[in-house]
Amino acid sequence: MDFLELLKEKYGSETNRITHSIGVRDLAVELAKKLGADPKKAEIAALFHDYYRYDDNDTLISYMDKNDYDKYMDMPWGYHGLAAGNKIKEFGITDSDIINAIKYHTVGRINMSLLEKIIYVSDFAEVNRTHEGSKEVRELALKDFDKAFLLTLEYTYKHTLDKNVLELFKYYGGLNMNELDLVINEIDKLNMENIKSYNLASKSPLFDYVVIASATNDRQANAIIKNLRELDGEGKISIKGIEDKDYSWILIDLTDIIVHIFTGESRAYYGLDEIYSQYLMEK
Ligand SMILES: [Fe+2]
Ligand SMILES: [Fe+2]
Repeated sequence: MDFLELLKEKYGSETNRITHSIGVRDLAVELAKKLGADPKKAEIAALFHDYYRYDDNDTLISYMDKNDYDKYMDMPWGYHGLAAGNKIKEFGITDSDIINAIKYHTVGRINMSLLEKIIYVSDFAEVNRTHEGSKEVRELALKDFDKAFLLTLEYTYKHTLDKNVLELFKYYGGLNMNELDLVINEIDKLNMENIKSYNLASKSPLFDYVVIASATNDRQANAIIKNLRELDGEGKISIKGIEDKDYSWILIDLTDIIVHIFTGESRAYYGLDEIYSQYLMEK
């Protein structure tokens, strides 16, 4: 089956619909070759991903798996992908990776395969795209694909404010690392001492990272609370709670990150560094 011919038959002279799919194909094939995915599968998925992009919702729903419809009912912008992934079976494609790459090219999902991610990123960043972030992602994709994938999720969230995308962004490690970098950066700026971070992502169901730092005076301790509250106000981090244990131990709860600021000798007294020592992160 020649999927480019099929696309031309469907869209005739409406070339920009075809141009986009060719752009996705070119980037996806290039990435597949570089990253060790199957370029042929990438080509098929790319050329068919938007085949039903302009069909009406009733038609798309009739093309979808019932399970997919039940699950993604509230995300009509994803119908065309879910429909195409299901319908491509009628064009002789039974490979589940191709099918999934098409299905999830708009809505994404947890546990995406490399091919699924390649199509997701290529759809966002192919050469004809001009929206914010597309060029940046395109250039980054060939150098550091994992980062480019996260950046795609980040921009998609920024553009759509879709909470499902935010969840994916978190799932793939985007938000924690960003939040963690921001928090450590603030602590660093205040010249606190002995900043250590610990990664408990695989150990604790409650939080992912612990950051511990020593403030040499009250001014620093108050400043970190003030500065993190400002970041919270700007929506860059999200503070769940702050506890001033006994004025020598401040605990800032960012849900996925717990920050402990100690003053005086309390850090040695409570010994958290020892408790977490095996999870210490390299700088
Ligand atoms: Fe699409
Ligand atoms: Fe597309």
